Amino acid sequence: IEFAYVLNDGQPINMIRLMGLKVIFSKQLPNMPREYICRLLLDRRHRSCALVGRNGAVLGGITYRVFPQQGLGEIAFCAVAASQQVRGFGTRLMNHAKAMARDRDGIRYFLTYADNNAVGYFKKQGFTREITLPRDRWVGFIKDYDGGTLMEAVLHPKLPYTG
Ligand code: ACO
Repeated sequence: IEFAYVLNDGQPINMIRLMGLKVIFSKQLPNMPREYICRLLLDRRHRSCALVGRNGAVLGGITYRVFPQQGLGEIAFCAVAASQQVRGFGTRLMNHAKAMARDRDGIRYFLTYADNNAVGYFKKQGFTREITLPRDRWVGFIKDYDGGTLMEAVLHPKLPYTG
C-alpha cells in the first residue's frame, strides 16, 4: 500500500484516485450527499491523502480544504473501506495526512466536525474538543455543520509523523 497526495490537477492518475475516493466516501459517509462529495473532491482548494492498495485501488482517504492565509486545514471527509477497518489504516492515514498538509500546504491546524461515532477515533489521532486557534482565524471560514463535534489537532512543526 501507499499514501498518495491527490488533487484535481487534471492528471489522469489523480482523476482516477478522486473517483476512488468518491466511492469510499459515498459508502462510508451515508449522510453526505454524493453531489456534495464530488463537488469538494473536484474543488481545487481541496487536497486528499489517499490510501492506495497494491492493485491501485483506493482503500481510504482524508480530504481537507486548505486555508493558506490561516495555516488552517478543514477535514471534510475521512474514511476507510469497510473491509479494511480496524487494522490500523485509519491511524496511518491520519499521520500521512498530517505530514502532507504540514509539508506541502503549510497547514498548522486541522479542524473537523467529527461525527459522534468518530469522536473516539479523532481523539486517538490527537484531536481535542478544545480549540486553541483564535476564533477570528476560523469562524466564518470553515463550514458550520450540525450534529458533529468540532475538534482540533495542532500539527507539530517538526515531528516525523510517518516514521
Ligand atoms: N470510536 C472509537 N475508537 C475508534 C473508532 C471509533 N469509531 N474507530 C476506530 N477507533 C480506534 C481503534 O480502536 C484504534 O484504537 P487503538 O489504536 O487503540 O487500537 C484507533 O481508533 C485507530 O483505528 P484504525 O484501525 O487505525 O482505524 P480504521 O482504519 O478503522 O479507521 C475510521 C477509522 C476512518 C473512523 C473508519 O472506522 C471509518 O471509515 N468509519 C466510517 C466513516 C467515518 O465515520 N468517518 C469519520 C466521519 S467524520 C469526518 O469524516 C469528518
